[in-house]
Amino acid sequence: MTGDLLLALDQGTTSTRAIAFDAALRPLATAQEELPQHFPAPGWVEHEPEDIWNASLATLRGALSAAGGDPRRIGGIGITNQRETTLLWDRATGRCLHRAIVWQDRRTAEHCARLRAEGAEALLRERTGLLADPYFSATKLAWLLDHVPGARAAAERASLAFGTVDCFLIWRLTGGRVHATDATNAARTLLFDIRRGDWDDELLRLFRIPRSVLPEVRDCAAEFGMADAVHLGVAVPIRGVAGDQQAATVGQGCFEPGMVKSTYGTGCFALLNTGETPVASGARLLTTIAYQLGGRRTYALEGAIFVAGAAVQWLRDGLGIIATAAEAGVLAAQADPAQEVVLVPAFTGLGAPHWDAEARAAIFGLTRGAGRAELCRAALEAVAFQTRDLVDAMRADWPGHSATVLRVDGGMVASDWTMQFLADLLGAPVDRPAVRETTALGAAYLAGLQAGLCPAPGASGATHWRLERRFVPAMAREEAARRHAIWQDAVRRTLTH
Ligand code: G3P
Repeated sequence: MTGDLLLALDQGTTSTRAIAFDAALRPLATAQEELPQHFPAPGWVEHEPEDIWNASLATLRGALSAAGGDPRRIGGIGITNQRETTLLWDRATGRCLHRAIVWQDRRTAEHCARLRAEGAEALLRERTGLLADPYFSATKLAWLLDHVPGARAAAERASLAFGTVDCFLIWRLTGGRVHATDATNAARTLLFDIRRGDWDDELLRLFRIPRSVLPEVRDCAAEFGMADAVHLGVAVPIRGVAGDQQAATVGQGCFEPGMVKSTYGTGCFALLNTGETPVASGARLLTTIAYQLGGRRTYALEGAIFVAGAAVQWLRDGLGIIATAAEAGVLAAQADPAQEVVLVPAFTGLGAPHWDAEARAAIFGLTRGAGRAELCRAALEAVAFQTRDLVDAMRADWPGHSATVLRVDGGMVASDWTMQFLADLLGAPVDRPAVRETTALGAAYLAGLQAGLCPAPGASGATHWRLERRFVPAMAREEAARRHAIWQDAVRRTLTH
């Protein structure tokens, strides 16, 4: 029987959320839990695998029960997840050998520097579309194999399994019967040939990873096995999987080449659909898989910014100059237009297109007249300036196909002031959708597609995306250019190379 509910699980970096959707992809009920963070050394970030598992199960159950509680109504589970985060577990017991090493973790910076010095980056770029950076999974997995006593020997005996968070949850939900991931998560490991759509032997040799630890790679809408009855009351099929930024791309309905979405959470991730052609970036963006459906891969150019909402958190928790995040937008709107304070939020270095891990945040243009309002405005403007840099890089990488509209989601898009400034600076409309939980929406859509509840992309009437508000550029282009030039100058002064 195919039910009429879709259950999306969004296992993110700081929280785990499950949302029950109806077959028309309207959200019905949500359950959420915070995820504890562990920082065992400077630059290291870990998650406890049992926390990830317990929160996933609890929120799946919570959302189901809030939506009426009948598990027989579930047509499929869709899983979406923080990407790159790396787990390694024992196939016999299902126990992880170590805490999960989180995507933000920089412990393998030296390994990456060595790879660059040895000239391996060109190969990595060509095969995987990524860079030699600790952000991705391969060096984290190599670290686990080399540092956990007995791990390498056990891996050589084929008794260990590696996975990103999606893969670990599929394993746990299916009682260890399925060791699989999807193409979008595989594409973030530095081990996957994004053109051939398979693990790459040369890269496996480079990182000394035995093939036996790797999961099977499937489409984003596919059968990923049945979650055991013990979890939700009856056995339920897992039918959709995608990394969170790719799920947001799907949730935003970015199915046509040239469409672009930008998600504003702690950081910001912008993905431009480039169709069936992987576009190599000359501007240090990432080339990645947007989604794989029916065995066909659609590619994207991706720009990752490490600090977006985190700058507002810093104003609230670090400086204590606002009580709530929402206050930043209110104050920004009251800032003195004559003050030109610029904040470069390089608190953890700068991501695309600069990739400067050593850069640190800086504030420019302070006068005696600058105060809370000007700092708030600078933090919000920095998000828009960085998005503009990503969009400019996308335009340079793929001339003639530049995005004309930016679809936005994530917590920060609630600020009308920020969205208007973003449209002004881009000189392009910014569309805010009715359902802002686009990551979960994308995962639900993928499961619904596989279950036959949702139409294929491109099918007539096949859009789950609805506009809530469009922000249209109102600033003179000369003024936008002048403001952007001031920002670029501040970035130049912040970079270390
Ligand atoms: O690549 C990292 C990204 O997937 C993390 O997203 O929303 O969990 O911070 P988020």
